[in-house]
Amino acid sequence: MTIDIRAIPGADVEQALALTELAFHSKESEDERERNHKVLATCERIGAYDGDTLVGMVAAHRFEVSVPGGDLPCAGLDFVVVAPTHRRRGVLSRMLDEQWRRCAAAGQVLSCLWSSESAIYGRFGYGPATEGYGVEIDSARPLALRIDPDPRPLRLLDPARAAAVLGPTYAAQRSRRAGRIARDDDWWSAHVLPDDEDEGPIRVVVLGEPGAAPGGYAVYRAEAGDDVTRAPGVIEVSELEADDAAAAAALWAYLASIDLTSKVVAWVRPPDDPLLSFAADRDQVRVTRQFPALWLRLVDVGAALTARSWAAPVDVVLDVRDGVLPANHGRFHLTAGPDGATYEATEAPPDLTVDVRELATCYLGGTPLGRLVAAGLVTERTPGAADRLDAALRTPLLPYAHEDY
Ligand SMILES: CC(C)(COP(=O)(O)OP(=O)(O)OC[C@H]1O[C@@H](n2cnc3c(N)ncnc32)[C@H](O)[C@@H]1OP(=O)(O)O)[C@@H](O)C(=O)NCCC(=O)NCCS
Repeated sequence: MTIDIRAIPGADVEQALALTELAFHSKESEDERERNHKVLATCERIGAYDGDTLVGMVAAHRFEVSVPGGDLPCAGLDFVVVAPTHRRRGVLSRMLDEQWRRCAAAGQVLSCLWSSESAIYGRFGYGPATEGYGVEIDSARPLALRIDPDPRPLRLLDPARAAAVLGPTYAAQRSRRAGRIARDDDWWSAHVLPDDEDEGPIRVVVLGEPGAAPGGYAVYRAEAGDDVTRAPGVIEVSELEADDAAAAAALWAYLASIDLTSKVVAWVRPPDDPLLSFAADRDQVRVTRQFPALWLRLVDVGAALTARSWAAPVDVVLDVRDGVLPANHGRFHLTAGPDGATYEATEAPPDLTVDVRELATCYLGGTPLGRLVAAGLVTERTPGAADRLDAALRTPLLPYAHEDY
């Protein structure tokens, strides 16, 4: 079998969507199909062809993702599929090799993705860099709070025109937490505020007077209850951003107060969400699941480490293992601190031996390296080296990703 790895032309996008449905066992609605066509048409697309037949695809969004202290160009992988007739023959591996070549050419320091299965991407150097909590509020009664909610008024916005109002709040929040992507208008309409009749209308609620900068907002859908089964109505929150705890409290209290519903669910919130602290009754606000959210790959380890900010000075020699991208593999001297960082090849004995996937897991500050030393995944050769690196990697807020792409 000869498989040719090459770019997927625009004319093959429909074939690519059919392959996606085949691999994910899905049947898209007309709206979804149209939206996916638009999204895929704007992605970089690498295909695996058996003759003229497309049997594999890796697509990539080109966006910037927030890292501690700034933003970095990132290839956000999406539509990763191989036909069931061609699986486990190295097709994905070959497409990713082409992806790395393109990342290097485009100066994309990072790559990230949401994984359908946790077992797939570690071997390619991806680590789970953010953790997600699924949260559920029992809203059969008013939300009990330990703080006073922001008293400013709430108002609903037309989703078609909401992006301009929400944009500055989102931008401010993404700079406070690493792992969040920069959005343009197309991203807002395709991924955050899609007009999708099958899913029911999207609602946008904003805190604050018209014309003033919002204190926060929530994007949600209301699912009606069922009169026959007596299943309660549910509020599904896809995004909630707030300047501070009082603003967040006002928005959560609103969502929990909507008539004819008795449950609020948010599919992914950060583990340090203030809601989990200011809720007066943790039996009312429950974490229903905990999962690896954004998978991150440091495509250029040196560029990634020197581009982020550092909370404390650190001077360590890292023995980095990277079985996929040889330029990252080797021994490097990292000096970093509040004034910047340098990362240079060295012959000095290493303080830590770390696989590139573990480095990615810790890079945004979400997982302490010390935890991975304790798990036997990172080798600490100089006692205290992991603690020192952790103090430097630490961020005030945990990284967070919730974009469903
Ligand atoms: C996941 C998928 C893209 C893998 O493609 P593939 O061409 O079979 O992958 P490769 O042959 O290049 O596999 C490379 C290695 O990863 C392993 N691997 C691939 N998919 C895996 C999975 N789902 N679970 C565990 N290991 C997996 C292979 O066993 C192989 O290991 P080896 O090098 O030790 O032999 C393909 O199975 C698929 O399309 N699945 C359904 C859709 C999906 O889940 N896509 C991923 C979305 S994030």
